[in-house]
Amino acid sequence: YKAELDAGDIEKGTYPHYMLKEIDEQPAVIRKLLMAYQNEQGEIEIDADIRAAIDQSDRLYIIACGTSYHAGLVGKQMLESIAGVPTEVHIASEFSYNMPLLSKNPLFVFISQSGETADSRAVLVHVKKLGFRTLTLTNVPGSTLSREADHTLLLHAGPEIAVASTKAYTAQIAVLSILAVDIAEHNGMDIGFDFTKELSIVANAMEALVDQKDVLEQMARDYLTGTRNAFYIGRAVDYYVCLEAALKLKEISYVQAEGFAGGELKHGTIALIEKGTPVIALATQYHVNGSIRSNVKEVVSRGANACIISLEGLNEEGDSLVLPEVHDALTPLVSVVPMQLLAYYAALQRDCDVDKPRNLAKSVTVE
Ligand code: G6P
Repeated sequence: YKAELDAGDIEKGTYPHYMLKEIDEQPAVIRKLLMAYQNEQGEIEIDADIRAAIDQSDRLYIIACGTSYHAGLVGKQMLESIAGVPTEVHIASEFSYNMPLLSKNPLFVFISQSGETADSRAVLVHVKKLGFRTLTLTNVPGSTLSREADHTLLLHAGPEIAVASTKAYTAQIAVLSILAVDIAEHNGMDIGFDFTKELSIVANAMEALVDQKDVLEQMARDYLTGTRNAFYIGRAVDYYVCLEAALKLKEISYVQAEGFAGGELKHGTIALIEKGTPVIALATQYHVNGSIRSNVKEVVSRGANACIISLEGLNEEGDSLVLPEVHDALTPLVSVVPMQLLAYYAALQRDCDVDKPRNLAKSVTVE
């Protein structure tokens, strides 16, 4: 593994923080993944044994914690909509207490940047005893979860040093999309778009976003300065990205942040909106663009300090940031980037220790 690293991977270089360096590395990681999972004909291809394990199973059970769990939520959506593979996502610790009724031939998919998380490992050990097949998606070859599972898919993100995960999250989603496309194509399904081309467009879009640091630094000032709480709202897959956006902000800036499904606002959360409450809305999905914008109007009329981050083509006048257009199945890879930068700048503006936030560890090897 060491041979794969060069000094640039582990040194901050001119960067003030590892987190910023790792955010910037995301386009390169996506391009690396495209190379790593392509065959000589330039087609997406994963290990045939892994494909067979998925084909032989009747349901995938994704098990993960923290950011990796959030990547799993996006991955479920991709596996079901692109490849028609029934998929459930579970928080590792909860799965242990509340094991769902399993299908006949489950395949357990562990997502773990470090490959060492104790909560995920406890599930792995348990389901192996029950005789079920297992696959680990990890950034660390030779890690415990990789060694103990039947199969491994690597994230190829390079070492992630900052405690708050950024490039591993986008790598996890990219690998899950690669998995979905491989399964679909080998089963003769027409996915309806040129995946490798669209993933390259994603890498370019990420690049354009990491070049807009000044815009995000200013947005952090406009919406997150001095606040004690913040809400991220989205619908459909944007909701999952909002969960991750809120986690990033909580982890490194200590602002109490929550990600909410737009439709749930009226069922409780809207009671918390008062004058000046920051609400950051994500609008990348055509079919919910109107309804998330109505949510923004509702919170603004109650005094919220709200802004909209939208996808090119769905944008309207007054949106604070417009993301470059990418295929709608792949928007989470792009929409999370400004969220990571917002959290980064909010933490900096509060003088927080960005790379080593209080009370957190990079990998949690105790239950
Ligand atoms: C810790 C980290 C989180 C991470 C989670 C899962 O709590 O602080 O950033 O998302 O573990 O880690 P894993 O290595 O399993 O992806």
